[in-house]
Amino acid sequence: MASIGDILLMIGDLLYWLAYTFYAYLDSLYRLIVPPALKSLHGDIALVTGAGGGIGSQICLQLGKAGATVVCWDNDKASNDKIVKQLKANGVKAFGYQVDVTSRQQVADISAQVKSQVGDVSLLVNNAGVAGYYQFLQMSQEEYDRVMDINLNCHMYIMREFLPKMLEKKSGHIVATCSMAGHEVFPYSLPYIASKFAVNGYMRALRREVSQYPSKPDIKFTSIYPITINTGIITNMVKLIPKRPWHEGIMLDPAYAGKVIADGIRRNQEDIFVPPSCRALLWLRMYLPTKAWWKLMDILEPEIVPLKKD
Ligand SMILES: NC(=O)c1ccc[n+]([C@@H]2O[C@H](COP(=O)([O-])OP(=O)(O)OC[C@H]3O[C@@H](n4cnc5c(N)ncnc54)[C@H](O)[C@@H]3O)[C@@H](O)[C@H]2O)c1
Repeated sequence: MASIGDILLMIGDLLYWLAYTFYAYLDSLYRLIVPPALKSLHGDIALVTGAGGGIGSQICLQLGKAGATVVCWDNDKASNDKIVKQLKANGVKAFGYQVDVTSRQQVADISAQVKSQVGDVSLLVNNAGVAGYYQFLQMSQEEYDRVMDINLNCHMYIMREFLPKMLEKKSGHIVATCSMAGHEVFPYSLPYIASKFAVNGYMRALRREVSQYPSKPDIKFTSIYPITINTGIITNMVKLIPKRPWHEGIMLDPAYAGKVIADGIRRNQEDIFVPPSCRALLWLRMYLPTKAWWKLMDILEPEIVPLKKD
């Protein structure tokens, strides 16, 4: 049986938590009206994977504009060189490396080059990603593994290279491009969705773990949840056929996404939704009856037609 001391402790915890929750609501409201100042990135070294792609290149441009030295990684040399050239033309200190992020050896070798040629990475953006749009049983195990390697497993190799220095310096910022598919599902993308749910999960786990380290490192964590952005990951692989008038404007401009993402990073936001209104979907799913939620998804989703099948 609980002692009087235990009961008083529980009541104390509850009252403290209620007061803290009230403060947190007030703080969120205040931050909605007066957003935190954008931090300058002068002196930061930002490494962005998938830098040559639609979202990655826009993140690079925005981080460079905010003062960061930008290190661009992509396995597509032509698109990586293009963004490095564009950054340099904008007066940004930029470095490009051709890396297949699924190769542990390449990640180790190129990370060593970055450390000696550029310096310590203080802002790591794990952004490279691929999608595979297939019916589950039409997808080979190799295709499944490839999506998991690029979207999830390589994050671990890359963080093992750069997180130790951040912990030693007690400062840094880890960013992962997740997806709204890390919160909710759609058809024909099983490995993509599995990888993005996992990214959402490991980022939360790492953030929580690092906050408990006795050395109290000031390391920020940011997860990015875009919905449909007009880049190759969608346009090369799947056709979204409008079922309702509002589906016509469903594809968002990558430049808009890059600005929302970079501003969120510069405000040390833990979660960045693109567009920000998507956050409301999480609340709806939590509080709607399950049947009503699936019905809403039927209405909200355009028709998804994969362009190729193995
Ligand atoms: N476009 C969207 O609607 C959308 C929505 C949610 C999340 N995302 C996420 O945003 C991120 C960026 O995607 P995007 O929309 O810019 O697509 P994209 O295809 O334009 O860019 C992806 C980039 O990753 C690079 N890449 C792929 N495999 C690689 C590898 N093995 N090694 C190194 N680089 C590799 C590609 O060359 C490409 O430049 C991905 O993680 C994606 O899942 C995109």
